[in-house]
Amino acid sequence: TVPVIAIDGPTASGKGAVAQAVAAHLGFHYLDSGALYRLVALLALDNNWQQSDELTADKISELVHWANTLNAVFDVEHGGEYILLNNIEVSARIREEATGNMASKIAVCQPLRAALLQRQRDFAQSPGLVADGRDMGSVVFPNAPLKIFLNADARVRAERRYKQLIGKGFSANMSDLLHDLQARDARDMSRAHAPLKPVEGAFVLDSSSLTLDETVKAVLDLYAA
Ligand code: CDP
Repeated sequence: TVPVIAIDGPTASGKGAVAQAVAAHLGFHYLDSGALYRLVALLALDNNWQQSDELTADKISELVHWANTLNAVFDVEHGGEYILLNNIEVSARIREEATGNMASKIAVCQPLRAALLQRQRDFAQSPGLVADGRDMGSVVFPNAPLKIFLNADARVRAERRYKQLIGKGFSANMSDLLHDLQARDARDMSRAHAPLKPVEGAFVLDSSSLTLDETVKAVLDLYAA
């Protein structure tokens, strides 16, 4: 079986950057599971769904349909992030806060999570996979030989997200970001299905006072141990 390193944690904890660097170092594949939720969220936004909408039975079947027919391409050879949805580049749109907030809202939906399960498992190809998300160690890859729960203080995470958004040319506001991040944490942790928490056997890493390189090294050391 293919080795999987599962990296879970709250929003803006640095999971994505750490997971990508670990994957590059080991020559492993990389799964950004949050991107799948964000892509379905983009379809919802394109259909004029509002953040305050109730997830009715009709809406849930729509989500499942979108997940089952999701036409997405992740081009890793492109240098930097390059994602196509229905043949249209969405690399920038997918990272907008509105998309992240809609992703967090629809991610509470268990039928949607179930519909995305196999697609995520298909990323586990030789020689190995680094998977980043909320439920990589608990639900998607429960047999992963290494499970990491990456955390950081809310304020540090808000600052990282601020820099990330500004770096991509978006505008951002620290107090809004901190507020959204705390709302998202609360939703991710309190949902009934796959709530965000360290799974048994996971190593909890707090990256608040670590650089990216230090965090990557900590994960690689755990994998080598
Ligand atoms: O970048 P950030 O950590 O904010 O978000 P992300 O990892 O791209 O995920 C976006 C949203 O999808 C999160 O707020 C989660 O609610 C949801 N998600 C999930 O439920 N399960 C996953 N495996 C990955 C993301």
